[in-house]
Amino acid sequence: MKPRKLKANVYWVGAVDWDRRLFDELIPLPDGTSYNAYLIKGSEKTALIDTVDPPMTEKLLENLARLNVRNVDYVVANHAEQDHSGALPKVLERYPNATVVATLKCKNLLTELLLIPENRIKTVEDGETLSLGDKTLEFIHAPWVHWPETMLTYLREEKILFPCDLFGSHLATSDLYVTDEATVYEAAKRYYAEIMMPFRTVIQRNLEKIKDLQIDVIAPSHGPVYDKPKFILNAYSDWVSAPPKNIVVLPYISMHGSTQKMVDYFVAALVERGVGVKQFNLARTDIGKLAMALVDAATIVVGSPTVLTGPHPNVVYAVYLANALRPKAKFASIIGSYGWGGRMVEQIKGMLTNLKVELLEPVIVKGYPKAEDFEALDRLADEIFRRHREHNIISA
Ligand code: FEO
Repeated sequence: MKPRKLKANVYWVGAVDWDRRLFDELIPLPDGTSYNAYLIKGSEKTALIDTVDPPMTEKLLENLARLNVRNVDYVVANHAEQDHSGALPKVLERYPNATVVATLKCKNLLTELLLIPENRIKTVEDGETLSLGDKTLEFIHAPWVHWPETMLTYLREEKILFPCDLFGSHLATSDLYVTDEATVYEAAKRYYAEIMMPFRTVIQRNLEKIKDLQIDVIAPSHGPVYDKPKFILNAYSDWVSAPPKNIVVLPYISMHGSTQKMVDYFVAALVERGVGVKQFNLARTDIGKLAMALVDAATIVVGSPTVLTGPHPNVVYAVYLANALRPKAKFASIIGSYGWGGRMVEQIKGMLTNLKVELLEPVIVKGYPKAEDFEALDRLADEIFRRHREHNIISA
């Protein structure tokens, strides 16, 4: 993709990665991604905002060459993770006068991760500005979105916010700006769920910090640019701060049908009571979809058979992930089966230490579920309905 103009003397110069299907060797990317870098030509100085993932370095350098950029004065590193900073060594080699601009924590990471010499990095304080002549960059420290060193850069004259990962989406597209809001909403929510959700409370504070900033454009470092910033700001406000919704997320697995029968019965019981359900068979689910469902759910119910005295390993993985993502759920429970014994419930409970959830009475059955087990599932569905209503998650 060639450089594209955002405003006078402000260009997108990044790379679109149409083929990438996995990030951090963990996160599925069904729609690829992009690494957005931006060039700002001031009347006196030129700055590059972020770089790209190392395999895309040549694409960034080609884009700078296409714009006849002979000198770069500053490379702003909003974030030290390598998908944005990985091309820095080559950029600094190509532009020997360039100084990296970063927070102090970012400087330390860049010297450790990429061996950037300290004397090539200038640190900036929260609120500090940097003049490019007729354009001014303002740096807003925003730690923990999603690493400790992160900051946002605001181009005052054009009212453009460059937030790096924050507000981003893993979406490869030929569109510079958001054109299809439904598609971008889905990709941005997936991104939030997988990357940002564990830092929900800190993001709340960071959103507060930028609430009075006049923003015409949000130009993140993944996915399309927002020329209607309210779209993504409102979405974040909902994901971060709104109360959880009347939804049970039910990740489960079944080996011989007992847990499946319980899940089928339980899901029908919840729906009958007016509680929404998102059911995920962990034998074939996309963990990104599960993470997205966790953004809104008021209750998590885990379904598992007993394997070697504990939960099924796929369930262990999903519970570990749910605990790490720290969703805003208020209640949790466990349903499942065993053949001759085990400690499945204790082990799952012991893995949910990050979640501020109240554990509702689990339903664990020996073998195939029988009449009294279905009654216990009905009681659990009643309890969830009652708790949702008590907390105004369902209106009375
Ligand atoms: Fe897109 Fe945290 O890197």
